[in-house]
Amino acid sequence: MSHLLFEPITLRGLTVRNRVWVPPMCQYSANTEDGVPAAWHLVHYGGLARGGAGAVIVEATGVTPEGRISNRDLGLWNDEQRDAFAPIVDFMHSQGAAAGIQLAHAGRKASTWPEWGAEKSGARSVDEGGWQTVAPSPIAFPDLADPKELTAAEIVETVAAFAASARRAADAGFDLVEIHAAHGYLLHEFLSPLSNVRTDSYGGSLENRARFLLETVDAVRAEVGDDFPVLVRLSATDWTDGGLTGDDTVEVSRLLKAHGVDLIDVSTGANVPAQIPVGPGYQVRFAEQIRSGAELPTAAVGLITDPFQAEQILATGQADVVLLGREMLRDPHFPVRAEKELRREYGYVPAAYHRAFA
Ligand SMILES: Cc1cc2nc3c(=O)[nH]c(=O)nc-3n(C[C@H](O)[C@H](O)[C@H](O)COP(=O)(O)O)c2cc1C
Repeated sequence: MSHLLFEPITLRGLTVRNRVWVPPMCQYSANTEDGVPAAWHLVHYGGLARGGAGAVIVEATGVTPEGRISNRDLGLWNDEQRDAFAPIVDFMHSQGAAAGIQLAHAGRKASTWPEWGAEKSGARSVDEGGWQTVAPSPIAFPDLADPKELTAAEIVETVAAFAASARRAADAGFDLVEIHAAHGYLLHEFLSPLSNVRTDSYGGSLENRARFLLETVDAVRAEVGDDFPVLVRLSATDWTDGGLTGDDTVEVSRLLKAHGVDLIDVSTGANVPAQIPVGPGYQVRFAEQIRSGAELPTAAVGLITDPFQAEQILATGQADVVLLGREMLRDPHFPVRAEKELRREYGYVPAAYHRAFA
């Protein structure tokens, strides 16, 4: 029996060994406020690579200091950060995994206390060491600070910051970048009519609301060249009347395809509080909708926890890649286990561990 989970996949000049990947997951583990990766990141990302994942996508990494969710986030706005990523990427490569990184700007959801290890939670005011947040329009996310509306000149600067971070990612050895345009962060805020009420060329029609994202994609592509995969994570629906829908996201994905994006990582929600019908594979149907509607490879994510479930998503043509987040935190060797369960082989076991599998 053949299994797609263990089939390589090629995106531009990159061939990834399998289709079970790790999505970006914030660790809030930078040792200081400098956004530089440290020992935790080597062990964490190195461990996920050792566990057999095809690609490991490093957490949301700020393209500017103000683009961080919290002061413990990683960053890629300077060369010190780039140089600290390089040995982590090298180790991931030594384990056979492709290394990806999610480039992010948190927009109106920036300047919060880190999710753990802080005395407080939620918004972190300027007086408490936070910073002024920015957004398409001066509309706050509930319980967070009022953002400042980005000017057109600041949009141009932010596009350049994404491009400069992509350049550093490629120089650090990363094999792919993912632009974060989901979960209510800056680029999603522009896409969604619930958070973007601008009247300039970045607001109004869907095409206008997608302009910032498309300019970012073009600027990133100009830095990384033609061989380098560029992924985009989208929230396919706002799960709210008047917000983005799956059909809108197919339209956005068609535009992204025309701008050379290689794969859409299909998540949902988090731009506004909403009732989300969370359950096994609850977002997979959107990956399928975009895959067939925009004819672009997709990654499915969200409560995929079982090898057979993962294989079925691929075998039924709903997605080209599956991303397992929390399950990979519980079991970083999930790909080893999946391979054992599905085909009784141990191809992903590191040589140093072979005696445990003899
Ligand atoms: C600890 C943690 C941190 C996360 N950080 C990010 C992030 O940096 N960027 C992002 O796009 N999604 C982030 N997510 C969402 C995951 O990438 C994934 O989409 C979500 O957990 C659903 O997949 P799962 O059910 O397999 O965990 C995070 C999730 C968790 C659990």
